[in-house]
Amino acid sequence: MVYNSSSLSPQFRTKMTKNLIISALFVFGVSFLEAASSGGGHSEAKSPERGDADAGSTLVMVCAGCHGMDGNSLVGQWPTLAGQRESYLYDQLVQVKDGERMIASMMGILDPYDDKNLRDIAAYYASQEVKVGQSDKANLVLGEKVYRAGNIDSAVPACTGCHGPAGKGVESAGYPMLGGQKAEYVVTSLIAYQNGSRGNNAKGSAMQGIASRLTLEEIRAVANYVSGLY
Ligand code: HEC
Ligand code: HEC
Repeated sequence: MVYNSSSLSPQFRTKMTKNLIISALFVFGVSFLEAASSGGGHSEAKSPERGDADAGSTLVMVCAGCHGMDGNSLVGQWPTLAGQRESYLYDQLVQVKDGERMIASMMGILDPYDDKNLRDIAAYYASQEVKVGQSDKANLVLGEKVYRAGNIDSAVPACTGCHGPAGKGVESAGYPMLGGQKAEYVVTSLIAYQNGSRGNNAKGSAMQGIASRLTLEEIRAVANYVSGLY
């Protein structure tokens, strides 16, 4: 539609200009957030495209032995995938497939899957419900303190800032869910960030910095705490 704005009333023109500015800001704001949340990782990860959970459900038989049919793993060192944030799952699947994140027990297992398959698998696990376990009473107080307040003395930020008060993570930012995750796996992950065997990219660098300032006692405590968090 083409119209001559000079023939419109001044009030209408002002209103139109305002609307244009607002929509321009909105578009800019959204693309800025997307750029910030994709953090310069893989180009595919920048697309907000969503997978198809039903299609994903047909692709995960081979994963069930370790991650459980519905993504609730039964063994401490195998992460629970049920209820995990879709954007995070997709990003990790791309990293595992590309060999950027080395997982010996998953070597080659993602080779037959294309990009759409990975999106569908991520959507499937994200749509499942996480079964939250029971934290051990032993170091719960320290775990909660680290999770909710960090450690001022060693400049550890509160985990809530990114992973959320209930440990749900943030889909748009790609922050993973931690609530209900297996404690043993959380310990392994934090140590992997600490020694640089995981997270050597834009998204992982924040976690490398944070994990490097945690003591082993704090790692064990916070891992125990999140395993029962919901
Ligand atoms: C033989 C056991 C095994 C099988 C089979 C397996 N995985 Fe894994 N998976 C693991 C282990 C172990 C890890 C965690 C490795 C680590 O400590 O970093 C993992 C990690 C993951 C992660 C990262 C989770 C997170 O929170 O970061 C995803 C996603 C994943 N697997 C998806 C899959 C999918 C999809 C399949 C099937 C196509 C599959 N896995 C098959 C053992 C397995
Ligand atoms: C500035 C935001 C931020 C803060 C604060 C933060 N995290 Fe993270 N965390 C992330 C991001 C982003 C990732 C995913 C990194 C990647 O792609 O490897 C992550 C990943 C993790 C993972 C791996 C999850 C999985 O499924 O493999 C664990 C465990 C974790 N964080 C624990 C913590 C703990 C404990 C704290 C508090 C001491 C904390 N995080 C504070 C942003 C944050």
